[in-house]
Amino acid sequence: MTSLLGSAVDLDVGAAAAGGSCVSRHEGRVVFVRHALPGERVRAVITEDRERFLRADAVEIHAASPDRVPPPCPYARPGRCGGCDWQHAAGDAQRRIKADVIRQQFTRIARLELPPFEVEELPGGLLGWRTRITYAVDPDGRPGLHRHRSHEVEHVDRCPLGVPGVGDTPALERTWPGHTGIEAARGDGPEVTLLAHRPGPGRQARGRRPPDRVSVVDGPATVDRSVLGRRFEIGAGGFWQVHPAAADAFARALLDSLEPQPGERVVDLYAGAGAFTAVLAAAVGPAGSVLGVESASSAVADAERNLGDLPWARVERGRVDAGLVAGLAPRPDLVVLDPPRAGAGPDVMRAILGLRPRAVGYVSCDPATLARDVAAAVDAGWQLGGLRAFDAFPMTSHVECVATLKPCATGSEP
Ligand SMILES: C[S@@+](CC[C@H](N)C(=O)[O-])C[C@H]1O[C@@H](n2cnc3c(N)ncnc32)[C@H](O)[C@@H]1O
Repeated sequence: MTSLLGSAVDLDVGAAAAGGSCVSRHEGRVVFVRHALPGERVRAVITEDRERFLRADAVEIHAASPDRVPPPCPYARPGRCGGCDWQHAAGDAQRRIKADVIRQQFTRIARLELPPFEVEELPGGLLGWRTRITYAVDPDGRPGLHRHRSHEVEHVDRCPLGVPGVGDTPALERTWPGHTGIEAARGDGPEVTLLAHRPGPGRQARGRRPPDRVSVVDGPATVDRSVLGRRFEIGAGGFWQVHPAAADAFARALLDSLEPQPGERVVDLYAGAGAFTAVLAAAVGPAGSVLGVESASSAVADAERNLGDLPWARVERGRVDAGLVAGLAPRPDLVVLDPPRAGAGPDVMRAILGLRPRAVGYVSCDPATLARDVAAAVDAGWQLGGLRAFDAFPMTSHVECVATLKPCATGSEP
């Protein structure tokens, strides 16, 4: 078959799909169209021609959606920066699209029809919210951001998603020969830390580079962050929710849905520096306990430094898997988990439910893996007790969910 790559086609655009495109059809094949919105008629250029589907960029809008707005960033255009997906949609439309995608994932993967819900807006607006950006560096050392599904670097003089000092870091004005990336990070204060990414030791395996060596080149080695009024001091390269309002929103959602009681025992899996560990510890009090489990030693060290006044809470270094979870004793009343994008997986889910907690709070940055893991829980006789979603990544297709799982009333309660 002749490749359609580079050819222009007129398309009627349907619903949004995961990943920031909308679904259309051309000559019997599905087309994933970027820079389009549901209901539009567009002229699109084919950017990828695969056996079973095509990808395309809308380059001309014949009939525009009422949700369409001019993208505020000059780099958010077909073929340019790939960091944002929905700059051309009004904020409320972005949140509607994300709710639709979550709903589709639960229907398709978990065979669950979700009750009506909205993706909640976080304070701060659509721009100027990213407290951490890792800029890519091209082979000549020039920094920028990756183009969509490409290793090519779009050279940018700023990223309007970044908070001041991060989106307009002076690091973008110079070259970084020998670097793989340059990262700007800011906490609640005005200081910005610059971290250099250099190629890590070891050989590339299965097309993947070994992890970068990351070191501070400018600014403080730690940043201050806070969750529900509690201050944390975190290694500048360590994990913390990137939207300034996110940690509070997710922690509050967990407290509201799980209602931890004084004296209860809680396990916090994938605990990072212990943001939720601390919040849960305050709720259960000294008669209770919270055990966090986290694989990154730097995050465990951050947790140790920050949880000293809560001796009934600790984060231990460990790699969460079904064996580790099954061995957790004593039996927890509540389990919280906040895994990376890949999710916990059905084996870990079954191990968690095997501990027979009274409820599980699952914080997820990927609705597809969340739906898969919720399906494993439903198969094990549990039910989805609640789902909230937050627009913690405006302008992008990313969205965060906080799901609550509860044993079915007829289940095997102790
Ligand atoms: C999404 S972050 C959540 C951190 C924390 N809950 C927070 O909000 O600050 C996921 C964390 O899981 C850790 N992690 C990834 N895989 C892990 C595993 N198998 N076992 C334990 N921790 C893991 C990462 O190092 C990271 O700190």
